[in-house]
Amino acid sequence: METNGISIRPSGGGVGAFVDGIDLARDLSGNVVGELRSALGDHGVLFFRDQRLTPAQHELVAEHFGQINVNRFFTAVDGHPRIAQVLKEPEQERNIGGGWHTDHSYDEVPAMGSILLGREVPERGGDTIFSNMYRAYEALSDGLKKTLEGMRAVHSSRHVFGNEARYVKEDTDLAERFTNRDAATQDSVHPVIIRHPISGAKALYVNPGFTIHFEGWTKEESAPLLQHLYAHAVRPEFTYRFSWEVGSIAFWDNRASWHYALNDYAGQRRLMHRITVEGDRLDG
Ligand code: SIN
Repeated sequence: METNGISIRPSGGGVGAFVDGIDLARDLSGNVVGELRSALGDHGVLFFRDQRLTPAQHELVAEHFGQINVNRFFTAVDGHPRIAQVLKEPEQERNIGGGWHTDHSYDEVPAMGSILLGREVPERGGDTIFSNMYRAYEALSDGLKKTLEGMRAVHSSRHVFGNEARYVKEDTDLAERFTNRDAATQDSVHPVIIRHPISGAKALYVNPGFTIHFEGWTKEESAPLLQHLYAHAVRPEFTYRFSWEVGSIAFWDNRASWHYALNDYAGQRRLMHRITVEGDRLDG
């Protein structure tokens, strides 16, 4: 479909759409921003190619969609404290984001989404997989939907970025890239089924990265149902695997999607710049 001179083409997988015919550095009129925002709400992720943005232009693009969230834990790009560096050097083993998650669910008002820009990409590997949380919700049985409707879950940053994090305990090379462990004190409670702030559709809102248990349930009681939801939410038909080029952008909505950065490019460098945009309080 083409409006405002741009075309939005579903990815062909279970989530996401490609936006063609746009130069994000120049073409963000009010109408285009409105169209992209609504497409993001519908598709969960927008993919762009050949966007040769300077860091300052990247920031300007993000500001069209909301206030920039300054990440507490990622190393920032030199001279641009609002841009998080997502980096893996050839000699490093662990990558950032190498497990299914959605960002910032530990915040009381979780970030709307992130605009990730490929700066240096491996010759082979380093794709990101996304999954669709609308479809995950819709495909649940009526009985399970009804059970989950009234439930809330607790999310935390402590076990991922704090002193108890696995990357700290196991002394991995991620420690070189994360900072500010003492600031990992966020715990928050959100509905398990949310109504998406842009699209109004229902989406599953728990994730393996940050959700620790259902409200009022122990971790042990929560684990089997969470594990069931996690396995269900990444059924292949809900997913799309995005291959990066320099200048590619994935703009994802944290409320409608999960993502997983593959770590299959040993010996190669991968450098991405990520800007995160603030979001809304989530209601069931
Ligand atoms: C992230 O989880 O924010 C990083 C995703 C990626 O590097 O592909």
